[in-house]
Amino acid sequence: MIDLDAISALKSEGAALIQSAGDAAALDQHRIALLGKKGRLTLLLKDLKSVAPDRRRETGAALNEVKEHLEQLFAARQRELARKDAALRLAGEWIDVTLPASALCPSFSPGSIHPLSRVQRELERIFTGLGFQVVDGPEVESEYYNFEALNVPATHPARDMQDTIWTTGGALLRTQTSAMQVRALEQLKPPLRIVAPGRCFRYERIDATHEHTFYQMEGMMVDRVVTVGHLIYFMKTLLREIFGFRPTIRLRPGYFPFVEPGFELDIWFQGRWLELLPCGLVHPRVLEYGGIDPKEWQGFAFGLGLSRLVMSRYQIDDIRHLQGCDLRFLKQFS
Ligand code: DAH
Repeated sequence: MIDLDAISALKSEGAALIQSAGDAAALDQHRIALLGKKGRLTLLLKDLKSVAPDRRRETGAALNEVKEHLEQLFAARQRELARKDAALRLAGEWIDVTLPASALCPSFSPGSIHPLSRVQRELERIFTGLGFQVVDGPEVESEYYNFEALNVPATHPARDMQDTIWTTGGALLRTQTSAMQVRALEQLKPPLRIVAPGRCFRYERIDATHEHTFYQMEGMMVDRVVTVGHLIYFMKTLLREIFGFRPTIRLRPGYFPFVEPGFELDIWFQGRWLELLPCGLVHPRVLEYGGIDPKEWQGFAFGLGLSRLVMSRYQIDDIRHLQGCDLRFLKQFS
């Protein structure tokens, strides 16, 4: 027999069941048990025939009201569970992006800065601290900036030592960062202090100390009065910063067409003289090429062999390692 008490009991029982469902599958089971084809409420509705005719209308209305009510509760609970599910998934996917990569992924191997870049950055830091500006120039250079403007005309024997790859258009792969000297004079009027690190290329018979591709760092200072004294001061400061001690140096005369006088600056390192820093006072003709009056301005310049410096700093015995891309070599600098 269906009576109103049983109907209201079903209502509260159904509501409790729906509320207790912890996930979508449990909720669905309750829905089938209550409202499915053979669900308790469906069966009651089917049983309406057995209700006395005078109470049928009232009972039917009560059953329909319960059905509607439960359906609404199902829909609401379904939405609630979906929200909870999404929140749970989100919580599972949450990562702390401020953690170091190695904590998130133990097999993570971050690589390392190449020793050349490391030393280059260090030098840039030292020189910017001394008021120098870091400038960059093209690796495919004109004959003019690489040779002519550096007082090395086409017939000059100094060109023989610096053969390189030429393009069909007459440009070349620069043989020295000195090519930046006249570019800098043209663009930055004096007083100026620049360093120009970069890659250079030469036709070389390759061995442990010679490579067709290598790195230099050019430096130049131009001001009203610049003497060999200034040059020595800056070079000593630089070497002290790099090597961490005050190195013994020696200055030998050296010939480079774009400086006068020109020197080879050697340092005493591990029991022998290391040829490290060719330098000199900027040749008046180079200043003229840069549109600067040599009667008003003077300068010094130096060409630091970056590859060579890296080799002595890290005791690398073969220059070819620097460009070899061999991980066994590179991993030593991580
Ligand atoms: N560019 C020269 C070379 O590669 C090195 C050099 C010598 C640069 C003397 C200079 C300098 O600035 O003053 O052999």
